[in-house]
Amino acid sequence: MKDLLHITDLSADDLTMLLELATGFQDDPGSGGHLLTHRMVPMYFAKPSTRTRLSTAAAVTRLGGTPIAVGPDELQLRRGETIGDTARVMGAYSAAIVIRTFADADVRELASATPVPIVNALTDGHHPLQAVADLLTVQQHFGRLRGHRIAYSGDGGNVARSLMEAAALAGMDVAIATPPGYAPPDEAVAFTAAEADRNGGGFVLTTDPAEAVKGASVVYTDVWLSMGDPEENQERRRKALTPYRVDENLMALAGDDAVFMHCLPAHRGQEVTAGVIDGARSLVFQQAANRLPAAQAVLFALLTERLDGRP
Ligand code: CP
Ligand code: NVA
Repeated sequence: MKDLLHITDLSADDLTMLLELATGFQDDPGSGGHLLTHRMVPMYFAKPSTRTRLSTAAAVTRLGGTPIAVGPDELQLRRGETIGDTARVMGAYSAAIVIRTFADADVRELASATPVPIVNALTDGHHPLQAVADLLTVQQHFGRLRGHRIAYSGDGGNVARSLMEAAALAGMDVAIATPPGYAPPDEAVAFTAAEADRNGGGFVLTTDPAEAVKGASVVYTDVWLSMGDPEENQERRRKALTPYRVDENLMALAGDDAVFMHCLPAHRGQEVTAGVIDGARSLVFQQAANRLPAAQAVLFALLTERLDGRP
């Protein structure tokens, strides 16, 4: 397996290995050796980023390499150079390429045009690096993943999709509550249902947040308007998603030991109340910190060709 474009590229064993590697890098940041000495990893970000850009840069640095962040105005893509030509040229200088952009098709095109590993750092459809860090966080907090329910309430966008796919691979009990019309795509639902079943977990897709969080160990949400979403939809989204806000009442319906998670950035008073995200049950900063060992694990595993991918 050359690239990490989607969680659905991974087998259950691959995901387990990534979590083991990430745990190892957390305990001993230098244990990956100097895999990237004298090598460069360009990071192309067509959307803003705080966590992904900096944690990935830190991960490359830990492996002995040099991260170089480039924005859309700094490459010739804006002036009509094709993705294919750009990929072939970048690949000649690089150990791997990290990319955050809009269309998933563009990332797939990049990946098919160069032999170097491509890491999806968020697209409109997926956020695999986030999901690996999220499961690492749950595993650290509860000691294991199986047997725990992870409930998501809100927009069924990129974060929800990668999270539910990863949780199903890990054999968790997955519950997703979205408004009608905001559910994750059918293929993500089918993958999650099949993998939850195969790996000993469960899956519920509902429009009722109370049903989703019942007995949950984790309650998770994301922003109402993602970076790829047109601004003119903001009011329609606000109306649809307000009943899915994670507040103290919703948390009270979850398990007694339930924690709150959010990929960040968060909007207090919109998708989550300040009391919940800043409260004692919130793991959001542990999640953010875990982006670093998760990114290091993904880069290390791809560069050392340890991931088998799906059969
Ligand atoms: N969670 C996340 O991906 O954050 P950034 O957009 O800041 O990278
Ligand atoms: N769904 C959000 C996640 C940000 C990390 C977005 O795509 O903007």
